[in-house]
Amino acid sequence: MLSKKASFGSHGENSSYFVGLQEYEKNPYDSVHDPSGIIQMDLAENKLSMDLLESWLAKNSDVTGFKEDGGSMFKDLALFQDYHGLPSLKKELAEFMEEVRGKRVRIDPNKIVLTAGSTSANETLMFCLAEPGDAFLIPTPYYPGYDRDLKWRTGVEIVPIQCSSSNQFQITNSTLEEAYKHAQELNLDVKGVLITNPSNPLGTTMSQREINIVINFYMEKVIHIVSDEIFSATVFSSPNFISVLETIHQRNLQDSIIMNLVHVVYSLSKDLGHSGFRVGMIYSNNEMVISAATKMSSFGLVSSQTQHLVSNILGDKMFMKYYMKENLRRLRKRHGMLVSKLKRIGIPCLRSDGGLFCWVDMRHLLSSKTFEGELELWNKILYDIKINTSPGSSCHCSEPGWFRMCFANISEEMLHVSMQRMKVFVESFPGEQIKEKRQQNKISILRKPLVLKWVLKLSLFESQMDR
Ligand SMILES: Cc1ncc(COP(=O)(O)O)c(C=O)c1O
Repeated sequence: MLSKKASFGSHGENSSYFVGLQEYEKNPYDSVHDPSGIIQMDLAENKLSMDLLESWLAKNSDVTGFKEDGGSMFKDLALFQDYHGLPSLKKELAEFMEEVRGKRVRIDPNKIVLTAGSTSANETLMFCLAEPGDAFLIPTPYYPGYDRDLKWRTGVEIVPIQCSSSNQFQITNSTLEEAYKHAQELNLDVKGVLITNPSNPLGTTMSQREINIVINFYMEKVIHIVSDEIFSATVFSSPNFISVLETIHQRNLQDSIIMNLVHVVYSLSKDLGHSGFRVGMIYSNNEMVISAATKMSSFGLVSSQTQHLVSNILGDKMFMKYYMKENLRRLRKRHGMLVSKLKRIGIPCLRSDGGLFCWVDMRHLLSSKTFEGELELWNKILYDIKINTSPGSSCHCSEPGWFRMCFANISEEMLHVSMQRMKVFVESFPGEQIKEKRQQNKISILRKPLVLKWVLKLSLFESQMDR
């Protein structure tokens, strides 16, 4: 009765990433009403600086009240807008992006297409750059949403560039070549490489060397580069973020024809914590892409009310300067807290300098070094100690045992409770005994609720003692 698209599970919602989100909704943690509920550490949202934005709103009630120079703007905003978007927002976005890139590149507002978040920007680019059945190469681990955003409606395929922990998951010439060869073996026409810089889920910025490797590769193969830079202003320690646009500029390629193959995706969902406002964009030098994407943006416009509000926030340069500095300070502190608390219980993280999460190494806690072992551990963490994380397999990581833990969507108190739970959990399965314990657990399934109750009780008690 329904179309294949509507009835087949190609959306990807049965991946552990989406399952975890659904489980959390059923039983969320609440320090008063449900202190044994699930703590959500699987959502890359920034709630740390909401108070700054709220105080801006309180001081700028004219903007939310549709007033300007004493008159009403309601009619202008409420009536139909065309799909090019407000010029004032494009100008502010361009200036903000230049600022984030240390003014080392010029961003032309006329080369911006507004979209309903990066989700829409990524999909629109796939529609513009590839046919169904064509492929994009993406370094692993990657943001689980790409399986939906890039593939689902467009029919585009993703071929993984298999990166490994042996070099901190960096892209190399050989991993790129292998992925390209693999795509050819599958009879797929490779249309481009998509990089996420800074990376979700790694929280790392790409080095100049890596960006140059990708640029050399796309020039040699004459394919597109899509650079998803959604976390570009969420970089809180060095080495700093370098945009692909800067490297192109440095190499004097900005006026070459090859520049028509570079496209940047951005949104305010992370850097400004505006994921609900759906303000995203494509930046491209390619006039045909800009023209086609602008027409396609009819299917995912940003409301004029939101455009008006956001252009005013970005336009307040004094506020933005303060916001950026303070927001990064808070993120740096929170990131440090998670890293050091995990370290204290013997869990290392990949060294990272940005993003809203850590890439956590729990390989030593696996019952077997397989993805089954990883899923088993993820299930225990979710259902026994009630912390929702993303297992590496949901990000297509090639090695089992890595997990993404988000730190900016929860309160300090929740971070504390979650780490107490982890501590008790890890201490109950020390070193060599882990394997043995798992065997025992399998046998004594009936005892599991008792163990769970004990872990939750103990973690609650310890967290109260600590404070
Ligand atoms: C790398 C990456 N790209 C795109 C998105 C989608 O962002 P948006 O909320 O702007 O659609 C996300 C969201 O987490 C992301 O991490």
